Amino acid sequence: MENEWIISDNSLEEKDLLKNESLFNVSNGYLGVRGNFEEKYPGNYKTIRGTYINAFYEDAPIQYGEKAYAFPETMQKTVNVTDSQDIDIIINGQKFSAFQGTIKDFNRYVDIKKGCYIRELHWVSPLGEELKIKITRMASLKYLELFVINYEIEKVNFDEDIIIQSSINGDVANFTDENDPRVGTDHAKILSIKSITAEKGVMQIVSETANSKNIVAVTTRHQYDTENEITVEKTEKSVHTIFKIGTGSKIINFTKYNVYTDSRRHKNVENSGFEISERLSFISFESLLETQAEYLNKFWGLADIDIEGDEKLHQGLKYNLYQLLQAVGKDEKSNITAKGLSGEGYEGHYFWDTEIYILPFFTLCYPQLAKSLLRYRYNILDAARERALEMGHKKGAAYPWRTIIGKECSSYFPAGTAQYHINGDIAYSYVQYYLATGDFDFVKEFGAEVIFETARIWLEIGHFHKGLFKIDAVTGPDEYTAIVNNNYYTNVMAKYNLKWAVKFYNELKFKDEKIFKSLSDKIGITEEEVENFENAYKNMYLPYNEELEINAQDDTFLSKAVWDFENTPKENYPLLLNYHPLTIYRYQVLKQADTVLAHFLVEDEADVSTIKNSYDYYEKITTHDSSLSCAAYSIMASKVGYPNLAYKYFIETARLDLDDTHGNTKDGIHTANMGGTWMAIVYGFAGLRIKEDYISLSPKLPKAWNELSFGFSYKGNYIKVYMKNDKTEIVSEGNSLIILKLNKTLYEITGDKKIEILN
Ligand code: BGC
Repeated sequence: MENEWIISDNSLEEKDLLKNESLFNVSNGYLGVRGNFEEKYPGNYKTIRGTYINAFYEDAPIQYGEKAYAFPETMQKTVNVTDSQDIDIIINGQKFSAFQGTIKDFNRYVDIKKGCYIRELHWVSPLGEELKIKITRMASLKYLELFVINYEIEKVNFDEDIIIQSSINGDVANFTDENDPRVGTDHAKILSIKSITAEKGVMQIVSETANSKNIVAVTTRHQYDTENEITVEKTEKSVHTIFKIGTGSKIINFTKYNVYTDSRRHKNVENSGFEISERLSFISFESLLETQAEYLNKFWGLADIDIEGDEKLHQGLKYNLYQLLQAVGKDEKSNITAKGLSGEGYEGHYFWDTEIYILPFFTLCYPQLAKSLLRYRYNILDAARERALEMGHKKGAAYPWRTIIGKECSSYFPAGTAQYHINGDIAYSYVQYYLATGDFDFVKEFGAEVIFETARIWLEIGHFHKGLFKIDAVTGPDEYTAIVNNNYYTNVMAKYNLKWAVKFYNELKFKDEKIFKSLSDKIGITEEEVENFENAYKNMYLPYNEELEINAQDDTFLSKAVWDFENTPKENYPLLLNYHPLTIYRYQVLKQADTVLAHFLVEDEADVSTIKNSYDYYEKITTHDSSLSCAAYSIMASKVGYPNLAYKYFIETARLDLDDTHGNTKDGIHTANMGGTWMAIVYGFAGLRIKEDYISLSPKLPKAWNELSFGFSYKGNYIKVYMKNDKTEIVSEGNSLIILKLNKTLYEITGDKKIEILN
């Protein structure tokens, strides 16, 4: 039954079940539930049974062997909250389980057009009772607090009563793995129960985190269309509602409405839970399904993208975009975590992943959600200012490498706090949003302040040396090289940041005196400071190696020995799990795209031959141990004229989670890579670039495909690109004037228009 909208996997093998818990998560940007089985697996199977609320956190102390000045003392971490998944079906004392009796038919899939996950079974119990069960789950994209589960049960060959036991369980813990730095290592039991309500119509558990004192409630009600006898049982940490469904009804329809409320969003968590759940439980499941499908219809309308010629890749691409929609925080308090809401990898933290790998998709396909992500960074600006002071800087904002509420959560500074480039990445994403939407009001209200404050940090950590502006002791995106001077990526992003700070300062000064004055008063920015910005960016040092004719990754990188790839067995990758960091730092070996990524983001800083030479050089020594790498290499392979490599790297990104190629999908999906898949198509194969005054496209359709089409919003117009074997068509809808450079020809487009060029 698979197609590009349906992703299925019916395996009941333990390792597949664990991975599929992540793949079949249902999330809506506020809450996410892993694809566990309601009735659980056999007791000896590994599972990560998890429900998460975006930006709901605990403050966990960080234990250091040796602590130094300004190391963060605590970190925020995501919390596995009260479990509302449990439902058991009992016939003649026998619990339904897919691991007992006989399965005549089984289908497990996610429908990404409708926005729900389904499990269908035709099952015969060990005593011979036959049931057809369809379980549908969704995290409502319209009613963000709602996680709903619907059961349709058909009694095929018997009349006896069945019992449905529906529970909520407050005895939950976080997942830990002390051998993998990419998941939490400590602090499993976080929540303690404050109150339990067990009534016939409603169950509620309210719990609190020990340190941050954040409160979460799950409030559960049910809808059913058959005569029932109901009892409610309460234990110390859980509540069960037991429905005895009498003879007579062959088909039973049963819906469990779980409403999550939390103290970061709701004033009175308990009461809001009762109120919201009462309101939502009156909406029929059918109607919730319809609303969900409408939401997705709108999403797919904007994020429209199709490949003809490879179904598997088409499916992977669509699945990845769907996951981004599921993961994205929509309330400005939350962002998009490295794993979405599908697992606990990276402890629910937000990284530069958002700005560089994910925002491009939202900026061009769903600007409203992009705005919400940008607003989140604005909302944590004060925390970034505090961090700057803590780090010894006199002014500016130092955005944390990983965070939930704005405070630095990284305990390993060489690959954490030292990644100052996150400041440049955030500034870059504001500029890109402005270039794509033309929304100067947003710049005035939020963007300019972020860009000025991030720019200030470069003057704090950089200095002039022999007339050039240099930045020492930073780490670039390649975490297999740490604390270096003049990382090309960092310097080039700092240059961009400073340049736009000057531009916006001047524009504001002339365009909006009032805002200019209030912002200047607020942050005390002066003409002199802006002159310093200008001086720094105009003289920014960008390392270049004359002999190799490439941009050097940093001042010392090219003089190190090259890693011995030939004698590194396959099982020693990722290197980070098998070598001490110092061993890795001593060699020329990259975890992920660094200079190559910079050449994509700010391509005008280098000429085409330097970009190509750099690609050739760095590609050979990149391990792609980070899932962020392949997308950048795919985009740049398209640019420098290696279509086969571009395609190879694209394949890696498109199905990274579906095929679990990194072996850790069980800890959650890889959201940055998912955004990267879209980028590899739009910036890679189609060659889209958003320039200051125009957009450009240089389409190169992969040989294996018959057609590639996608759409995006640009300055209020909607542009659809159709790349075919023999021609490219561009259809623009909207009223503003846009300038489009297609290969080498410039077009001025106003109103609805179609352009066609033959290949
Ligand atoms: C990468 C970082 C990334 C983080 C979260 C690490 O493995 O090296 O660049 O931000 O994962 O995805």
